Amino acid sequence: MLTLNTVNTYYGKFRALWDVTMQVNEKEIVALVGANGAGKTTLLNTISGLLQPESGTINFFSDRIDNIETNKIVEQGISQIPEGGKVFPEMTILENLEMGAYTKEHWKVKDETIEFVYSLFPKLRERKKQLARTLSGGERQMLAVGRGLMSRPKLCTFDEPSYGLSPKLVTEFFDIIVKLREMGTTVLLVEQNVQQTLEIADRAYVMENGRIVSEGKSSDMLKDDHIKKAYLGL
Ligand SMILES: Nc1ncnc2c1ncn2[C@@H]1O[C@H](COP(=O)(O)OP(=O)(O)O)[C@@H](O)[C@H]1O
Ligand SMILES: [Mg+2]
Repeated sequence: MLTLNTVNTYYGKFRALWDVTMQVNEKEIVALVGANGAGKTTLLNTISGLLQPESGTINFFSDRIDNIETNKIVEQGISQIPEGGKVFPEMTILENLEMGAYTKEHWKVKDETIEFVYSLFPKLRERKKQLARTLSGGERQMLAVGRGLMSRPKLCTFDEPSYGLSPKLVTEFFDIIVKLREMGTTVLLVEQNVQQTLEIADRAYVMENGRIVSEGKSSDMLKDDHIKKAYLGL
């Protein structure tokens, strides 16, 4: 579904991604793990077109997407849930959700999609008229996910959705990711919560200093000595 081939992304002269090659198959949950500063957010921003790679190619199904604008990439079916529950603070919850459905095609079916989002996150329905800035951290994360789903993505990328959440909310979030996949959405999941992530993911990539340093089935990664020491504290 998504193929990156030797992708290199820079911030000025600083090379943040080094020959990144990876793929995500339809209906998979693929995890991307790595320490702070490894380049995970840079990679997601490069996929969604917020950053342009200096070289390399990115394909979504048969189309090249490394040279097109973010809004076009959203239309093709990729939605990024940004880190830190970034929402529009001075808009209501309902308005935030509507922002996620700005294309003509998605606007037509927005009421139905909003109902779907409310069914996943009943709290958002209760608070639909509240300004987003009045929400708790966890609720903002829910809203960011809900808004990302408003464009009915085929591939959803999540940037540390569980960051800063209570253990109970973390578990709820992982349940929702599993549910989304059951409904046919493909997931690329960036997480620092490595143990729980590997438990729900099919495959995983490990990133260090801008490079993919290992990849494999999640079940194998959970048994890998380097992963255990570096990421699972075992
Ligand atoms: N806007 C930016 N300008 C310059 N350097 C950046 C910028 N954003 C991130 N970086 C650098 O790129 C590297 C990767 O960052 P990032 O992708 O945010 O890592 P991660 O999401 O894995 O924590 C880090 O060294 C970081 O300091
Ligand atoms: Mg990050």
